[in-house]
Amino acid sequence: MNGERIGVFDSGVGGLTVMAKLARTFPAACFCYLGDNGNMPYGNLCADRIRELSLSALKRLAAEGVGVTAVACNTASLALEGTEEVDGMKLCRLRPHIPEALAGKRGVFFATAATAERAAEEGLLPASALSVALPTLAERVEKALLLGTFGREKGRLVGEMLGRITTDDPPAYLFLGCTHYLYLERELKKRLPLTVFLDGVEIICEKLIKNAILCSDINADGHRIKFIGEYAKVNEEIYRKYAVPATRD
Ligand code: DGL
Repeated sequence: MNGERIGVFDSGVGGLTVMAKLARTFPAACFCYLGDNGNMPYGNLCADRIRELSLSALKRLAAEGVGVTAVACNTASLALEGTEEVDGMKLCRLRPHIPEALAGKRGVFFATAATAERAAEEGLLPASALSVALPTLAERVEKALLLGTFGREKGRLVGEMLGRITTDDPPAYLFLGCTHYLYLERELKKRLPLTVFLDGVEIICEKLIKNAILCSDINADGHRIKFIGEYAKVNEEIYRKYAVPATRD
């Protein structure tokens, strides 16, 4: 797999947080990022439309010669259920999963409307999980990042999330079922220090390990990450400014 990039796809900037985690987990790997920012939010669309938009974006990554792509979007991942490849490019999809040790405890699952609906239909969550759909949050996170107002707004966005649950008796776990919410993870952790945070990214890591895409070496053009699509520049800027710091411990 030398020289081959790992594709990373999201509806917008959310997947950049996943890419930052993957870049740390696989220090010798190279990546190719595509955000479909012009069509986000996916979370309020019907499954067929989400699938259609995702497939057309994924074809662009396949056309770049990418062999495996991490679908770093919970909404797209669930809409693509059953699709293992696009134009010969393998997919590693996110999937909500609560580890056994936490499944019996009281927890919260935050997600887009489409993901929350799908997770309920498919019985992906234990009965102890409170599923909370946040229909406008991903878009507001994306806008705040693009407009440079995220620093001012993150406290309010986190306050709104926590306003949907009881924090007097903190949940044992909180699953961030939309990759845009990962930008708020640090702030949430400050307010819920005893809660375990989950995001499902380890599922993608395990699949990449199975596909042996661990050390692709630096590509011929010398860049570790190639950003493609109309929003390449914007995504690159958000990655460096916000996504890498947001995912650092
Ligand atoms: N980041 C996407 C996810 O993980 C959702 C954002 C959107 O609604 O487009 O589900």
